[in-house]
Amino acid sequence: MNGLTPEPVLELTGVMHAYRRTVALRGISMSVSPEEVVAVTGPSGCGKSTLLHAAAGIVRPQGGSVRLLGQDLGALDETARTVLRRRRVGIVLQFGQLVPDLSVLDNVALPLLLEGHDRATARTAATDWLCRSGLEAETAATPAELSGGQAQRAAVARALVTGPSVIFADEPTGSLDTTGGELLLDLLVGAARERGAALVLVTHDNMVAARADREIRLRDGVVEAVTVLR
Ligand SMILES: Nc1ncnc2c1ncn2[C@@H]1O[C@H](COP(=O)(O)OP(=O)(O)OP(=O)(O)O)[C@@H](O)[C@H]1O
Ligand SMILES: [Mg+2]
Repeated sequence: MNGLTPEPVLELTGVMHAYRRTVALRGISMSVSPEEVVAVTGPSGCGKSTLLHAAAGIVRPQGGSVRLLGQDLGALDETARTVLRRRRVGIVLQFGQLVPDLSVLDNVALPLLLEGHDRATARTAATDWLCRSGLEAETAATPAELSGGQAQRAAVARALVTGPSVIFADEPTGSLDTTGGELLLDLLVGAARERGAALVLVTHDNMVAARADREIRLRDGVVEAVTVLR
C-alpha cells in the first residue's frame, strides 16, 4: 500500500440498461473498494438483479461503463469477460444455478476443473468448502435432492471455491427461514471478510443489509441513497 486510496474493484459510471419495454437502470454510478461489503437494496423491480448482472459482465449495459478488477468490461469480448469471471469473481445468482446432472461435490469442484486444476485437487478443495458449508453429508447428492437452503449453501460454496477477489450474491437468503439465512450469511460474509474479498450483496432484507459496510439503495433504476454502516 502506498498511502493512496486503493483502486476500486468495481466502478460503474452512468450505467443504463433497458429490456424491450422496461428501462431497468437509468444512469447508475457507484464503486466498491477492495474488501468492502456492500448491500444493494430496494423494492422489487427497481433494478437490483440487472445491476448485479451488468457489474459481473453477464449483461452488457446499453449505456455507461463498468470497470471490474481494473478492466473495462465494455472493451472485453464475451470470452475475455467469462475468463475474468471464472478466475477472479464468485457469483451466487437469484435463481437456480447448480448443474442438475452433477453431484453436489462435482458442482462445487466445477469452477476449478474449468480453470484446469486436476480432479483430485478440485475435489479436495470442494470437499473443504462443502464441510464449511455444513454439507459434508450431501456431497454425493444431486441438486434435486437438496433443500432450498442446502442448494443455496452449495451455490455459495461453488462461488467461493476459487478464492475470488469479488463476490456477487443476488438475494442469497431469499428462500430461507431466519436461521437458514443467518447461517448462509455467516458463511458468505465470513468468507469474504476472511479472504479480503469484496462482496456485493443484493437483498431486500434489512437484517442482511445490516451486515454490510455500506448500503446502496436503488429506486426505479437510480441510486436513491447511500448509507455508511460501519
Ligand atoms: N429479461 C427481462 N426482460 C424484460 N424485462 C425484464 C427482464 N429482467 C428484468 N426486467 C424488468 O426490469 C426491471 C428491473 O428488474 P430486476 O430483475 O433488475 O429487478 P430487481 O430489483 O432485481 O427485482 P426483485 O427484487 O424482484 O428481484 C423490472 O421492471 C423487470 O420487470
Ligand atoms: Mg432480482
